[in-house]
Amino acid sequence: TPGLRPLIAGNWKMHGTLRASVALAEAIRAGADGLNAELLICPPFPYIQAIAMSLLGQPIAIGAQDCHLVVQGAHTGDVAAPMLRDCGATYVILGHSERRADHGETDAVVKAKAATAIAHGLTPIICVGETLAQREAGEAESVVRAQLSGSLPDGFAEADGVVAYEPVWAIGTGKTPTEADIAAIHAALRQAAGATTRLLYGGSVKPGNAAAILALPHVDGALVGGASLVAEDFLAIARAA
Ligand code: G3P
Repeated sequence: TPGLRPLIAGNWKMHGTLRASVALAEAIRAGADGLNAELLICPPFPYIQAIAMSLLGQPIAIGAQDCHLVVQGAHTGDVAAPMLRDCGATYVILGHSERRADHGETDAVVKAKAATAIAHGLTPIICVGETLAQREAGEAESVVRAQLSGSLPDGFAEADGVVAYEPVWAIGTGKTPTEADIAAIHAALRQAAGATTRLLYGGSVKPGNAAAILALPHVDGALVGGASLVAEDFLAIARAA
């Protein structure tokens, strides 16, 4: 979208070791000069601080893959937004379909987390996307619209919040929607999220399909899973933006 800098975000999910993760971050940094796109990597919680230290002053943003909806308290095993900010993160992915499925996160929970993230200086990336059954029933657009309207907190656009469209059936499967289907969903998201919100596509983005997907109207970047674990692939996707 004219006027919006593309964002290429890597969601590393629950992969890697400390040593390999720092090396991956450094390999991405080494190839990041002269890119048109903004680069973001989202490592597992325990590696965020080490990567932030090793990338200090470099033009690569670091994000987390979740945060809690309150900022402190008796929540064993959870991580608060201010802690992530303190460790060097500036973005947080919220409402990924894996968290909606594995942890029962609802739109209301995602909305509360996003509000907390914004209040503590983290830019939320809110994920939405239909299942295969919903797509086959012709409900993709209505599902995604409903998720978005239920998940966006007040002040989202003003905080430069980001939306990611990830069809559940396209994640890690090598399958992607048609270009027309991606464009149709992104047009609907644009209407709902406003002119200045970056809209990412996620789901089996690879070096081979990135240019075509990133050229679609209202696609302002990508949220990359598997291909973000290989520096050359992630950088190739970023160069396509
Ligand atoms: O958040 C990104 C992710 O869900 C997409 O994964 O492996 O299909 O690129 P992948």
